[in-house]
Amino acid sequence: MKHLINTADFDRDEIEALFARAKKFKEGYVVKTLEDKLVITIFFENSTRTRSSFEVAAKRLGAEVVSLDISKSSSSKGETLFDTAANLDAMEPNAIVVRHQNAGVPKILSNYVSCPIVNGGDGAHGHPTQALLDLFTILEHFPDPEGKKIAIVGDIKNSRVANSNIELLSRFGLEITLVAPPHFMPRIKAYRKTHYLHEVIDDVDILMSLRTQTERHTNQIYASLKDYATDFCITKELVGDRDIMIMHPGPVNRNIDIDDAMLADPRCKVLEQVKNGVFVRMAVLETLID
Ligand code: CP
Repeated sequence: MKHLINTADFDRDEIEALFARAKKFKEGYVVKTLEDKLVITIFFENSTRTRSSFEVAAKRLGAEVVSLDISKSSSSKGETLFDTAANLDAMEPNAIVVRHQNAGVPKILSNYVSCPIVNGGDGAHGHPTQALLDLFTILEHFPDPEGKKIAIVGDIKNSRVANSNIELLSRFGLEITLVAPPHFMPRIKAYRKTHYLHEVIDDVDILMSLRTQTERHTNQIYASLKDYATDFCITKELVGDRDIMIMHPGPVNRNIDIDDAMLADPRCKVLEQVKNGVFVRMAVLETLID
């Protein structure tokens, strides 16, 4: 049985097969391969995109979906995470999608259940299906990604999206530059780093903006989001008429991460990422569920 905890859980051949399947789904291929299957989603952290995307994906493939409302679950009565997982597992689901504020929870849960666990985001650790849908979107625009240059911009240190994308995109040959103020820059050494967007703007094919993860800051170590935006907001004025693809995993802080004009520009692929997420997650669920 296979789980999806990290992007590294799929090798290149498996990812290419996933993307071929996702492409067919995007082209309109309809199949009910998960009829009679049950997918449970448990989101201990808020989500707009990931949870609904998994649920739409499962339903399009014919699966039944049960979503545990954490605020109304027995977690709020003191039941441990492991007992919650064991009890859900006793209902014999075919997959459980879990999001948790603590890094490592999906991996630990995978030892307590008898179905695939899909990581829907764990703390600042990983968000594998986000990175997969990001790569799928990049490949639609750059079928040969080898040597393409991407700048990941923002609160990289606290971002599970950045972690998963750094692993996955570098494996597919993209050249990554990390752009962040010192307090949001991770300590990893292997990548080019800068504190200044203007140092990369003439040399990138893709800009991936990230949200400032205020919920993961133990104390505020920067003056204000407005000050941050002065240096790191992706504005139409900054991008000008350059041929750069703009990405963001969402939720976007408008005019902090990306400005209104750039969000409305056809070079901005934020909603295309969301659309592709359903097809990629259909392929993921179909692959993991027997
Ligand atoms: N990209 C992403 O994880 O968005 P949600 O938090 O809305 O799921």
